[in-house]
Amino acid sequence: MHNNIDLDKIDINSAPPTEEPARQYYFMAKCRQWVQAFEQKNGRRPVACIQTFGCQMNAKDSEKLMGILERIGFHETGDEHADFVLYNTCTVRENANQRVYGRLGYLNTLKKKNPDMIIALCGCMMQEPHVVEKIKKSYGFVDIIFGTHNIFKLAELIHGRLQHKKMVVDIWEQTDQVVEELPTERKFPFKSGVNIMFGCNNFCSYCIVPYVRGRERSRNPEDIIAEIEKLVSEGVVEIMLLGQNVNSYGKNLKEPLSFAGLLKRIDGIKGLERIRFMTSHPKDLSDELIEVMKNAEHVCHHLHLPVQSGSTRILKAMNRRYTKEQYLELVGKIRAAVPDISLTTDIIVGFPGETKEDFEDTLDVVRQVRFDSAFTFIYSKRTGTPAASMENQVPEDVVKARFDRLLFEVQKISSQVCARDLHTTKDVLVEGLDDHLEGFVTGRLDNNTVVHFPGEESLVGTLVPVRLEESKGFYYMGRMEPENQ
Ligand code: 5AD
Ligand code: SF4
Repeated sequence: MHNNIDLDKIDINSAPPTEEPARQYYFMAKCRQWVQAFEQKNGRRPVACIQTFGCQMNAKDSEKLMGILERIGFHETGDEHADFVLYNTCTVRENANQRVYGRLGYLNTLKKKNPDMIIALCGCMMQEPHVVEKIKKSYGFVDIIFGTHNIFKLAELIHGRLQHKKMVVDIWEQTDQVVEELPTERKFPFKSGVNIMFGCNNFCSYCIVPYVRGRERSRNPEDIIAEIEKLVSEGVVEIMLLGQNVNSYGKNLKEPLSFAGLLKRIDGIKGLERIRFMTSHPKDLSDELIEVMKNAEHVCHHLHLPVQSGSTRILKAMNRRYTKEQYLELVGKIRAAVPDISLTTDIIVGFPGETKEDFEDTLDVVRQVRFDSAFTFIYSKRTGTPAASMENQVPEDVVKARFDRLLFEVQKISSQVCARDLHTTKDVLVEGLDDHLEGFVTGRLDNNTVVHFPGEESLVGTLVPVRLEESKGFYYMGRMEPENQ
């Protein structure tokens, strides 16, 4: 296992190895030398801060990036007054980009006070050529830029920057490489995300993801299972399987395996209490998966099933490849097999050409399905996607009014649906001390709903039965059952 490699035993005076991950461990050892010199000069370890924008994929990538930084010798901090600051960016909607530009101005002021500070940018936004051009032109104080395909190279890139003292830019357009066995620094001791696949082949017409995350690549089941077994041996009880479109897992493997088949294997791992996954595309959700969800012991009864729109006409323009009726039928099938399933979704308002009638169809789906919760988004034009050049972009004020109506409807239903387990006892995985209430802890139900109840820190990471005494709309207040107190 490379993970256990002793960096001090690596010969850093010879040429770097060409194969991965050995090459990266070599550069980690090289960077460690720099860290040691830093320590001698400053009397402290250098500190590193990673700010993550965007989705769970990015959160997972950031854990890998921090793992590399810690192996090099950096100390983690949440504060941007650091020696190394990395922004892991998102570009799914324009406002995510604007936030990064805004924050870069602030970093520049920090760097003026600490000229040795290294500033790095990575993630989805960096896969867009116009973004990289803008940064090169207007944000020359940035030291390192890399993309989504080569995060494993962080140590090599830092080394390059230290050697040449000029901006290092390394963006890959594509990759078929999945580099295994690099260090990771997990945020939670008891739960973890696990990548099962990367990229997306769907090309929904509004979405930038296929352009910035590349084509679908599945990890080998053996690697996934070995990773989960290792996590369980370290105390992890809940995992979230991650992929842009988990339902098409396995199609490009040498020995194809369906997502349902993979899930069944993972369900058999001893010591694992909860298995979650996201995201599911409705067009690929198989009967086999529904069967596995029904029969598996540890797969949570929660499904994130983005509908995006309730209008068949708009769904077609979005290239979603299902109709309103097919979506509703699918929901009916899932509910018949798994009656206590929690359904959550994503909805876009104001896609080009969306009429009042189309929007009413979306409201109709929301009312029929009664989602546990829904993430609602205002359509954002992404350069390079087919929708960006569509005519009939909907005026801003119309979109805003629709968005407010949708949000109101979603929240009203959600607060009713979320209360359905009131006065029952359910298992809660305790995630931490409550931020607001002294003497309380916070955890989650199988269906992801948050519960607060009186408890101590020693409960963190354990599953305990909790009586759900009061519903507060999106969360519960509860009390641990007496035999567990
Ligand atoms: N505009 C608005 N929302 C978008 N999403 C993806 N692309 C866009 C866009 N251009 C939303 C979708 C997706 C979620 C992750 O982000 O609803 O499911
Ligand atoms: Fe995640 Fe998509 Fe944002 Fe990339 S662009 S961070 S894949 S949501």
